[in-house]
Amino acid sequence: MQADHSFVSAPGAVPLLGHTWRFLRDPLSFLRSLPAVGDIVAIRLGPFDALVVCAPELVRQVLVDDRTFDKGGFLFDRSREFLGNGLGTCPHKDHRRQRRMIQPAFHQARLPGYAREMSAQARAVADSWRSGQAIDVLAEMTTISLGTTAATIFSAAPSELRESLAADLLTLEGGVFRRMLLPPRADAVPTRGKRRYDRAQTRSRQSIHRIIADYRADETDHGDLMSMLLAAQDELAAPGAAGASLSDEEIRDQVMSFLFASTDTIGKALSWAWYLLGRHPRTAERLHAEVDAVLKDGTATFEDLPRLEVTRNIVTETMRLYPPGWLLTRTTTVDTELGGRLVPAGTDIVVSPYQMHHRADLYPDPERFDPDRWAPERAGTVPRGAHLTFGGGARKCIGDAYGMTEATLALATIAARWRLEPVPGRKVTAAPYALALGPKGLYMRTVARDGRGREASDRGPRTDGRSEAPSTVAQVPQRGH
Ligand code: HEM
Repeated sequence: MQADHSFVSAPGAVPLLGHTWRFLRDPLSFLRSLPAVGDIVAIRLGPFDALVVCAPELVRQVLVDDRTFDKGGFLFDRSREFLGNGLGTCPHKDHRRQRRMIQPAFHQARLPGYAREMSAQARAVADSWRSGQAIDVLAEMTTISLGTTAATIFSAAPSELRESLAADLLTLEGGVFRRMLLPPRADAVPTRGKRRYDRAQTRSRQSIHRIIADYRADETDHGDLMSMLLAAQDELAAPGAAGASLSDEEIRDQVMSFLFASTDTIGKALSWAWYLLGRHPRTAERLHAEVDAVLKDGTATFEDLPRLEVTRNIVTETMRLYPPGWLLTRTTTVDTELGGRLVPAGTDIVVSPYQMHHRADLYPDPERFDPDRWAPERAGTVPRGAHLTFGGGARKCIGDAYGMTEATLALATIAARWRLEPVPGRKVTAAPYALALGPKGLYMRTVARDGRGREASDRGPRTDGRSEAPSTVAQVPQRGH
């Protein structure tokens, strides 16, 4: 069903394409411009009509009433093709059972174990750098988050399976956003990209099924998420009854959800943090002073977390400015009312944490990078429902504590060893054409803080296969915060 056209429409629509061109050219500016148009704004993207909900109280209504505003809409309908029916994508009718069964894997008591892996992965990447290197920050941070995800989800999986999954993940992530806006018929055209995408989808599913089969055969509790999923029982179902435990297909879909939800979000959040610190040296100095005072042997641990307040506030503020989950969609399951207007069943609804986080009425001086917003004496002034980094309502992120823990430990562990300086002349832009919002073109130079790193002139070629910045870079001014 089409969106109700009595809603005010965003300006700049052109015949047939609607707002697609405006959105594709600069989706973040487009989203930021909409609250000035109305509380609920009609847009048209490719074949999709949608309503963008801008008013905070209406956004809350959408997120809290997940029966009426169910998972769906152009983002999640296409994501389901490769994520399957896991916790992040499943409809309301399947959600409560899945959440009940999976929640114990994210219990507070599991975090110290996961934190050990997080610290180890960050330390390994920080140890692999040499002073004076220009590193591809997003690639390095993704190595940390991917390594941690693999270690906490399926620690016992063979390394070749983990590596092939990692490669497939990147292919799928890049492809899904592009396909999202294509009409299904255009998407069916067997281009090279489409074939690569389809192969990655088939292979990743096969890889996960192989890991599940190995775990089932072995029966050892590895203390990871896979072991928890295999043991998960629905407490409301009789033992042995249909649906009392998770099937292989359900476990596969959960694993896909976790892989995507954790790798991309945390890798990108950490990258933005370094970008912002490079532009705010005084905040970087406060970070370094904190880790020097708190960390015992240069690696942040779970026990250090309560004292890493500056680090945590930097992470929180970074994700306010650049929320990895920048766009969420829903679909209405019945005719309903929103802001006093009728919204027909089957309408696509868009909520944007990015848009919300950049509203001047919710966050004074919203474009300013100000980690102290999140200091205890000020954090209480953020209006209820305005902070959407992890979403809200029953579909709120299940990995929020995991994500904050990993980002804080990784930032602190790296900051203990390294300062990262911007590479002059590099143009860094926000690249939203993915499920998570990341920086494009972010290369930074490593400066050793403890005298252990070798100087730039000592530097030999990398041997780990990860990328380094080209030695000559275009002189393009940076923009942003
Ligand atoms: C900094 C890191 C993270 C960010 C910014 C983030 C963001 C989000 C957001 C915004 C949502 C809500 C989506 C919606 O309402 O449509 C969400 C849901 C979800 N996230 Fe995260 N996430 C992060 C880390 C993680 C991690 C580490 C995991 C798992 C290992 C995870 C798993 C999930 C799952 C399964 C859902 C769906 C929950 C449900 O519907 O019940 N996330 N996340």
